[in-house]
Amino acid sequence: MPLTINQIYNMDCIQGLDQVEKNSVDLLLTDPPFGINFHKVGTQYNRKQKELGLMYHEISTDDYYEFTLNWITKCHEAMKSDASGFIFSGWNHLGDILNALTELEFRIINHIIWKYQFGVFTKKRFVTSHYHILYFTKLGVKDDKLRTFNRVPEYSSSPGKLYFEDVWRIKRDYQKGGDKTPTRLPLAITDKCIRMASNEGDTILEPFLGSGSVVLSAIKFNRNYIGFEISDRIYQIAEKRIKTLKTKLNSKDSSLDFWLGETGK
Ligand SMILES: C[S@@+](CC[C@H](N)C(=O)[O-])C[C@H]1O[C@@H](n2cnc3c(N)ncnc32)[C@H](O)[C@@H]1O
Repeated sequence: MPLTINQIYNMDCIQGLDQVEKNSVDLLLTDPPFGINFHKVGTQYNRKQKELGLMYHEISTDDYYEFTLNWITKCHEAMKSDASGFIFSGWNHLGDILNALTELEFRIINHIIWKYQFGVFTKKRFVTSHYHILYFTKLGVKDDKLRTFNRVPEYSSSPGKLYFEDVWRIKRDYQKGGDKTPTRLPLAITDKCIRMASNEGDTILEPFLGSGSVVLSAIKFNRNYIGFEISDRIYQIAEKRIKTLKTKLNSKDSSLDFWLGETGK
């Protein structure tokens, strides 16, 4: 029996992905572990182990490609023939992710730069201030018309026109109190990916949930979802955020304040 959708699972995605129904996913949207050796000097991403806490599950640099090829292969099996995907990556292992996508014959549509301030100011190198987002599809060029690409006016790069640049300037969230996860994606970015590359009723797959931003955006925009998180503590954070969102959406207490709080505006 395949796993039920509209659920998140506290498990290793390497096991979980085998249980996702084949050819059922419309959009893969994920932010895998960085694969950074936190003990070495020069953590230009400002992601020291102590800040991430022991709860964050990392992959060693040596194992990164094998691990990447493994989970992307399993996602490929779960994805429909006209599915697309977004994978977030720092530059350290970008090559591994690109190689795995190429190996599986995904077609890269865009290489998006997410520009934001990391808050770390290096003195003897250029200050890292961007992240990579690879946008790709299973579709070949001939069938590209089948790919979902919604030209949502509010994301246009020039007011009044419908064109969309591949450099996105989106601030990271300011997280107030409670359980903080330093790698949390802002809903502004997960909302944008979901709204532009999927439709209502589509199924979104996130194998590395973290605090669950992808699932929150999926719920907000009436998409189905399925996701995995290996760490118990981080899973609980995701579960709590999803529960809070569902309660807000079901109550008269409009979701507005909640969303404003979430995006830190
Ligand atoms: C970069 S973070 C994701 C952050 C997330 N986008 C958010 O908004 O919070 C990667 C997550 O993958 C989890 N992880 C690492 N290996 C995993 C595995 N094999 N299966 C499932 N989750 C895993 C880590 O514990 C971490 O929470």
